[in-house]
Amino acid sequence: MLDQGQAPPVAPQPDGGARRSGSPLLRRKPVEQLVAEGGQGEGGTLRRSLTMWQLTMISIGATLGTGIFVVLGEATPLAGPAVAISFVIAGLTALFSALSYAELAGSIPVSGSSYSYAYATMGELIAWVCGWCLVLEYGVSVAAVAVGWGEYLNELLDGTIGLTIPEGISAPLGEGGFVNLPALVVVLLAMLFLVRGAKESARVNTIMVVVKIVTLLLFIGIGVMGIKAGNYAPLAPLGMTGINAAAATLFFSYIGFDAASTAGEEAKNPKRDLPRAIMLSLGIVTVLYCLVALVAVGAMPWQDFEGTEAALAQIMKDVTGHSFWGVVLAAGAVVAIASVVFAVLYGQTRILFAMSRDGLVPKVFAKVNPRTGAPRANVIIVSLFCGTLAAFIPLGELANATSIGTLFAFALVNVAVVILRYRRPEMNRTFKVMLFPVTPILGFVACLYNMWGLPLATWMVFGGWMIAGLVFYFLYGIRRSRLATAEVASAEK
Ligand code: ALA
Repeated sequence: MLDQGQAPPVAPQPDGGARRSGSPLLRRKPVEQLVAEGGQGEGGTLRRSLTMWQLTMISIGATLGTGIFVVLGEATPLAGPAVAISFVIAGLTALFSALSYAELAGSIPVSGSSYSYAYATMGELIAWVCGWCLVLEYGVSVAAVAVGWGEYLNELLDGTIGLTIPEGISAPLGEGGFVNLPALVVVLLAMLFLVRGAKESARVNTIMVVVKIVTLLLFIGIGVMGIKAGNYAPLAPLGMTGINAAAATLFFSYIGFDAASTAGEEAKNPKRDLPRAIMLSLGIVTVLYCLVALVAVGAMPWQDFEGTEAALAQIMKDVTGHSFWGVVLAAGAVVAIASVVFAVLYGQTRILFAMSRDGLVPKVFAKVNPRTGAPRANVIIVSLFCGTLAAFIPLGELANATSIGTLFAFALVNVAVVILRYRRPEMNRTFKVMLFPVTPILGFVACLYNMWGLPLATWMVFGGWMIAGLVFYFLYGIRRSRLATAEVASAEK
């Protein structure tokens, strides 16, 4: 009998099996082993409790937040009323990769998301690089999003009790304060719910997602009454260049649709439900984004977005003539952004769980609390890390790093789907990318194209991050990897 948390033996595979020889950097983890280990942690197992609906809510939870409530205001001056088209373009970039995610999540339904897909197809080193990028996508974005939460909280407090949190304790050093307490608080609140396990977390997440969708529907319903046809002309005052620039900025608003793929080991029927949840969540947020953008630029001249903080709240106030509706919008945004923090934090803990089980990060991240079925220590460590980042570091540049890390991970997923189709054509796939291999190739190119457009400073942050990751891997992971220890054990027999 295997101990809980101990990997089952690696069965020889026709292909795509564990590579036992050659460079350790290329050793691959067989799909069957990844799936067989599903849920197993140190001292306990994760519980399978999530339905398709809850998985969809996790993805929407991680996606819909700062992008629509804050970034829309920054992108509109770049594109003019055509910002809705920018949302479609950014959504298409996400869609190509979402299709690849859906195929892989249905074939390898585990918690490591693209990290695990890379481990099965491109070997340990690329998998590690991918996992390290996911820390940018998830861990760093939690901190960046938490900072945005503090701003909306102040807006809400101002509108309700006429008070705001003093700058000294609501902004980090370098941005006029000492510590960003609201950002720390929202991360710690998320931690309190996450330590209670996936089922409880999914319930809280669903409530928050419903609140944010209702808020946006309310905005659409009220904002539509303020539309003036003249606001749509000219549609694209800054031409295609402006539309593309806005699309690059708005890509951030789609990050997170892949979060369901971090819940593979807690899903009741992951093979069937993960692909559906990924595609459904992307569809829902795209429709909402486009409608909100169309209404917003119809109700307020596009030039007025420049310099207007909380543009959506402003539109609600202007259209109704009552500040109350602005407060309602701000309250919805507070919940929306908190829910992104919550769902993204969840995803980060599950990715580290998978990496820890593989031996690439310390074992403590795979410890499961037998009572709650949650990786408690993992949740606490990750929350404290993200909370500290959010509290003390000005995150402007780092937030851009989220996009580059995400795009790189998405690019790898598009490669992984092609490799797995060729290596394991016989595998049972519950979802298949259409127009293969054109779609994943387009997805790959779109990701690289978007990365290319990011500023040099972002590339430098990315380069520094990658070097740190490689140092860690060569000092730690390469020897502690479970596949490495299995190799040693089999060599000693
Ligand atoms: N897509 C997430 C947001 O917009 C990161 O907040």
